[in-house]
Amino acid sequence: MPVAPEQRQIVPFDSKAHNRTNFSCGSPALDRYIREIASQDVKRDLARVFVVLNGADVVGFYSLSGDIVKKEDLPESHAKKLPNRPIPAVLLGRLAIDNTQQGQGLGLRMLMDAQDRVLLASESIGFRMIVVDAKDGVVEFYLRYDFVRFPDDSNRLFLPIATLRAS
Ligand SMILES: CC(C)(COP(=O)(O)OP(=O)(O)OC[C@H]1O[C@@H](n2cnc3c(N)ncnc32)[C@H](O)[C@@H]1OP(=O)(O)O)[C@@H](O)C(=O)NCCC(=O)NCCS
Repeated sequence: MPVAPEQRQIVPFDSKAHNRTNFSCGSPALDRYIREIASQDVKRDLARVFVVLNGADVVGFYSLSGDIVKKEDLPESHAKKLPNRPIPAVLLGRLAIDNTQQGQGLGLRMLMDAQDRVLLASESIGFRMIVVDAKDGVVEFYLRYDFVRFPDDSNRLFLPIATLRAS
């Protein structure tokens, strides 16, 4: 019996069990990532990848990795209380939903799931923010959910952990 999108579980990517050969989201780079690169990244501890499944088929995924932000790249209001050294962050490296499943709330569920995991991790590891490099046409998606633009890069956004904790 088909499972409704809002009930599909979000689980760690398992390259042996999860089929991603037909994944297609409209961005060839993101399609290639889940088909060919994600399992290597996970094996090499370069990223953790989480997927939402329809049966055994991957219909959405996101990745999380450690990152560093330069203090001088942040807006003045966010930089002023920070020390003069690289600022630890988490990179939401990719977030994509299969074409057949877009517009049903899965992207938002994946974003909220990523935020929950980051918030939990932030109790054990110090990092200041989540960073995302949004594709053209997707910046508005992140702005809706409290992300803030970096002043010199209109496609790069961040979400302070403090904002997340307060929400
Ligand atoms: C962007 C993407 C992840 C959104 O996922 P989705 O499942 O289609 O989005 P949802 O159904 O969860 O949408 C949640 C809300 O965000 C809005 N939204 C979705 N895509 C949006 C976009 N590109 N820009 C602005 N708002 C967007 C929806 O209208 C919805 O708003 P509503 O609750 O008021 O109706 C998905 O469309 C996708 O994978 N696109 C192609 C790959 C890509 O570009 N990924 C982003 C890399 S940074």
